[in-house]
Amino acid sequence: MILSSFTLVGGVACVSTRRLEVLHKQVPLAGLAKRMDGLKVGVMSDFHAGASATRENIFHAISIMKAEKPEVIMLLGDFMDADFLRTRKNIGERAYVFDALQGLNAPLGIYAVLGNHDHYIDQGFVKKELSRIPAVVLDNQSVSLDNGLVVAGVDDLLIGRPNPQKALKNLCQNSTVMLLSHNPNVNLHLEGEARVGLVISGHTHGGQIRIPLLNWAPWVPGSGRYKGPSGLIRETKHRWTFITKGIGTRLAPVRVACPPDVAILYLTRAKPDV
Ligand SMILES: [Fe+2]
Repeated sequence: MILSSFTLVGGVACVSTRRLEVLHKQVPLAGLAKRMDGLKVGVMSDFHAGASATRENIFHAISIMKAEKPEVIMLLGDFMDADFLRTRKNIGERAYVFDALQGLNAPLGIYAVLGNHDHYIDQGFVKKELSRIPAVVLDNQSVSLDNGLVVAGVDDLLIGRPNPQKALKNLCQNSTVMLLSHNPNVNLHLEGEARVGLVISGHTHGGQIRIPLLNWAPWVPGSGRYKGPSGLIRETKHRWTFITKGIGTRLAPVRVACPPDVAILYLTRAKPDV
């Protein structure tokens, strides 16, 4: 009986792990310029190349993103898994994820932030690999895309040196900002910040294992405020948070009722308050 229960759970986990979701979400942003209406933003995170993510899953997710042809791509960190097997040789082998990401292309650019695992591995090494894609690493920095739309990024909240104020420094009051942060808890540092209309994050993996019907996860990586559903969340009257469940897994190659995802966000102009 016990054996058959494990077999059933294992079977469900395996199926769920392999079935990649491709999410398409509209994100209404106040103040978005007319010329940026409908902008297609690709989002990928938490590849965790290594012990519990297969090359097949990672290459498949990247091929899906490539086929979607987004205008700008956001990479939210944890490119390689920093498990106890992270020898120099293993890290070199796991760097195939950066070779695979070189297949991506977006006319407005590819932007990245580092996650906690990128720091555990070696932030200098990861930044150098990202530059080969090429992706622009936003380490408490911002870049203006066009027509008042800005992409900003902060270093990892757990182990890096995050500085949202520095990332948003010198931006006009009427900028519309997409803020990249591996960890969605960056919202705790944005009180009163009206320029950030969208935070894009990963890190939680959606919990990896969720109990169906209860929609409860026994373990969600380091995100007390974000143990609930992932996806598009109304954060405040003026801000959304989008959390991707990511592509890989942590600790074990298991997902239950929580499939991996890649996401396409369509920015739209929010109707003005009446
Ligand atoms: Fe992760």
